[in-house]
Amino acid sequence: MRLIENNRLLFNRLADLATKPPLFEPSPARFWNDPYIAQQMLKAHLDPTTDAASRRPETIERCAAWIAERAGLLPGARLLDLGCGPGLYARRFAGRDLRVTGVDFSENSLAYARQHDPHSTYIHADYRTLDLPPESFEAAVLIYGDLCVLNDADRDTVLHNVRRALCPGGYFFFDVMTPQHSDYHQPSARWWVETSGGFWKPTPYLALLRHHQYPEHETGLEQYLVIEDSGDVTEYRIWSHYYSPEAITAVLERQGFEVVGRYGNLTGAPYQPDGEWLGLAARRM
Ligand SMILES: C[S@@+](CC[C@H](N)C(=O)[O-])C[C@H]1O[C@@H](n2cnc3c(N)ncnc32)[C@H](O)[C@@H]1O
Repeated sequence: MRLIENNRLLFNRLADLATKPPLFEPSPARFWNDPYIAQQMLKAHLDPTTDAASRRPETIERCAAWIAERAGLLPGARLLDLGCGPGLYARRFAGRDLRVTGVDFSENSLAYARQHDPHSTYIHADYRTLDLPPESFEAAVLIYGDLCVLNDADRDTVLHNVRRALCPGGYFFFDVMTPQHSDYHQPSARWWVETSGGFWKPTPYLALLRHHQYPEHETGLEQYLVIEDSGDVTEYRIWSHYYSPEAITAVLERQGFEVVGRYGNLTGAPYQPDGEWLGLAARRM
């Protein structure tokens, strides 16, 4: 059966694309700030029934309360929220009378954040290159595994910038996925069809997902190939570096942080050696 015209061309293109990319080679197609995908992301952030893009509201509430208490943040303390998305954490910190600065490179999410939280300052920027005033925050957060998507050089730059922006002794809270995370052990390939559009495109497409592992770097890649009925193929890559407690502690110490707490998550749950997530409390040394 002949499915499509020029199927050899498409096959060759797919075979080409499905090769294992070099470690942390950037995604050919953007997704955080693609206007259509940004709308889908915002819907996912705001869906209270899933942990897809942000955690559920009750978890966010507990997380903001625990961080404020663990760091002893008093009203008026300044908190930096990197990758704040639609401000779901930021506005809860602001509700505790903290002075919050949120940073994100999704205009769409920031528009929502500004509309729902007039008290905080929201900055549209890439936190890898943002030049923050030194020693201007008592605490900083980076929530939902966002450090894991960075290559080692970008990760160290972000940690350097956070350290510089924190006052001496200032707290940094973030979470990472561990090598026990189920995403790291996904089946190697999957495909599905969206007949009336879906997360990636508003029009029908076939999605192919390859999952590559780079065990020597404890890194995984979700490689999506999205094929439209025109025959156009778009490739998206989502990289994740999985960290053991020892590995992330060594990274933090090299960047001038002291780890003052390891937890199962950012609500202060006890650390579990076989847990999928690790919550870290670190201080600027
Ligand atoms: C998984 S979401 C988490 C959002 C928020 N922390 C939460 O848990 O609700 C990651 C967010 O980080 C933002 N982001 C990713 N890389 C970024 C970068 N380099 N600079 C600024 N924002 C970034 C994305 O736009 C997105 O809003």
